[in-house]
Amino acid sequence: MKLSVIYDSRTGNTEQAAEWIAEGMNQVHGAEARTFAIQSVDEDFVRESRGIVIGSPSYCALMTPELHAWMLGSAMKLNMAGKLGGGFATEQYTHGGGDLVVQSILVNELVIGMLCYSGGGEYGEPYIHVGPVAVNSNKEAHNGMEHYKDLFMLYGRRFAGKAAELFG
Ligand SMILES: Cc1cc2nc3c(=O)[nH]c(=O)nc-3n(C[C@H](O)[C@H](O)[C@H](O)COP(=O)(O)O)c2cc1C
Repeated sequence: MKLSVIYDSRTGNTEQAAEWIAEGMNQVHGAEARTFAIQSVDEDFVRESRGIVIGSPSYCALMTPELHAWMLGSAMKLNMAGKLGGGFATEQYTHGGGDLVVQSILVNELVIGMLCYSGGGEYGEPYIHVGPVAVNSNKEAHNGMEHYKDLFMLYGRRFAGKAAELFG
């Protein structure tokens, strides 16, 4: 079962988060997850994927304009309707809008016709509300990308597990 993690990233944080999600997905039996920057998407692999997770840095609490343009253009040609969809974000500050970014990604996916998945708050700690968000600020002691690896991998496992349940 193919799964795609697609992201925009300028300084590498969102790319790192994407790789952790795919690492978690690939721990699920039968999953074959790959990551793609929006500039180099393997369209055949994405078309064959049963689930697609899309991520962005928070830019003024919005997804990047490049990702939004990709979602309004290229994504519309990838047969994403009916597939499992998810979203993730990275931000510099604790209240930097990452949840809003995930929400807007999920809304775009809903409009395309995807079945959106948060990661399942009901599964308990660590609670993932709309999708995983990493805070990379080095000004707040409890933050930093390295603290989020387990969260993103857990999300990847939950997402792949749900996709397998639905489509496997
Ligand atoms: C133009 C611009 C706008 C940004 N706006 C925000 C913001 O609103 N909130 C925030 O927390 N971080 C903001 N950031 C920081 C990035 O979201 C953060 O560093 C992110 O992890 C970068 O991801 P990347 O390394 O994948 O490019 C902004 C960065 C840029 C370049």
